[in-house]
Amino acid sequence: MVMSLHLRQQQQPQPPPPPSVDPYPLSPRAAVYGMPQRPMSSFLLGRAGLLAVLSVLVLLGVFLPWSGPMAALFSSSSSSHLGAAHGSLSRWKDYTLAQAATFAARNGTVVVCAVSRPYLPFLNNWLISVARQKRQDQVIVIAEDYATLYEVNRRWPGHAVLVPPATDSQTAHKFGSQGFFNFTSRRPRHLLHILELGYSVMYNDVDMVWLSDPFPYLKGKHDVYFTDDMAAVKPLNHPHDLPPPGKKGRTYICSCMIFLRPTRGSKEVMRSWIEELQNQPWSVKRKSNDQPAFNWALNKTAGQVDLYLLPQAAFPSGGLYFKNESWVKETKGMNVIIHNNYITGFDKKIKRFKDYGLWLVDDHSHESPLGQI
Ligand SMILES: *[C@@H]1O[C@H](CO)[C@@H](O)[C@H](O)[C@H]1NC(C)=O
Ligand SMILES: *[C@@H]1O[C@H](CO)[C@@H](O)[C@H](O)[C@H]1NC(C)=O
Ligand SMILES: *[C@@H]1O[C@H](CO)[C@@H](O)[C@H](O)[C@H]1NC(C)=O
Ligand SMILES: *[C@@H]1O[C@H](CO)[C@@H](O)[C@H](O)[C@H]1NC(C)=O
Repeated sequence: MVMSLHLRQQQQPQPPPPPSVDPYPLSPRAAVYGMPQRPMSSFLLGRAGLLAVLSVLVLLGVFLPWSGPMAALFSSSSSSHLGAAHGSLSRWKDYTLAQAATFAARNGTVVVCAVSRPYLPFLNNWLISVARQKRQDQVIVIAEDYATLYEVNRRWPGHAVLVPPATDSQTAHKFGSQGFFNFTSRRPRHLLHILELGYSVMYNDVDMVWLSDPFPYLKGKHDVYFTDDMAAVKPLNHPHDLPPPGKKGRTYICSCMIFLRPTRGSKEVMRSWIEELQNQPWSVKRKSNDQPAFNWALNKTAGQVDLYLLPQAAFPSGGLYFKNESWVKETKGMNVIIHNNYITGFDKKIKRFKDYGLWLVDDHSHESPLGQI
């Protein structure tokens, strides 16, 4: 973490963070500023003693995982002197998407994911692969619950933001559930907001692993770049247009990996996606997610917007990569992002990543800006 902060500052001077966004919120200095105002009559010895106590608390906060008795200690401490340490985390509550984008953008571009607490191991796995391409500084983690917001920012200050309201993480992670639908439905709003702030944005699901840097594949000046979620093999030189609709009258473009330039066209697609989600809300019968609405949005805006289908060999669906060995052999060295989809359940996804040598968190957590989770 220290190293990545150091590198970032060397690479590019940063605008001073807003007052509530100290990149070192757990440093002794921050702890002092976070303390309730003390009258000047507080004599030196008492001040030093208090500082020593605070330093110990700060060290505990840094080195102990955010769980168990310490979590209880910190979260029940707001009325005592421990409140200073707690306060340094809880002020991330007011950190905005605009502030996070200013902090993380490199060359006007951010990389965004959205996670709830149960997905933290996947976030960490994805981040290791992003860090290997030296793109981690550009990452904004949209936390869906406060536990995730505080945990990520404690380990990696400034990289997580929560756009209220927080979702109930108990209901938000079951694929096909209404909670999951509600959670993914907010995705186009977040992306539209970032575009309106003037940034280019790459969105990724966190059940992905980068094998190389995807940015060189974002050729030309198109509005929206995306990948096909179909498993059928295409020729290596397939066209980059929106493919023809499939069986259900629509395409099967993945809402898992999207790159958007801050253009009129990309904003139009996001607005259309939001509209489609409102027109076809979740129902017990359909058990939908946000992907069909994204495809209808592409269908409706195709005439006015410059769309770009990324190459299948670089961005295969899980239904292709994990199910067709001969294709994987033929495209060796060409695959850029692997998506662990066409399978549901945390345990199954983890097992599959392990089987393919793509579960990096066990042996490579030192490469993650979050460390071991
Ligand atoms: C920065 O962005 C511009 C325009 O999008 C692009 O041409 C250039 O390659 C990018 N530079 C880096 C270092 O990524
Ligand atoms: C999902 O959102 C709808 C509409 O806002 C709401 O009525 C419902 O309670 C939410 N369900 C869950 C599980 O979050
Ligand atoms: C949009 O969907 C309709 C209905 O399936 C289809 O007829 C039309 O060709 C699609 N348009 C585009 C641009 O894919
Ligand atoms: C698997 O990939 C090969 C190309 O390597 C292709 O010819 C074959 O049709 C694919 N199999 C399936 C079931 O799609």
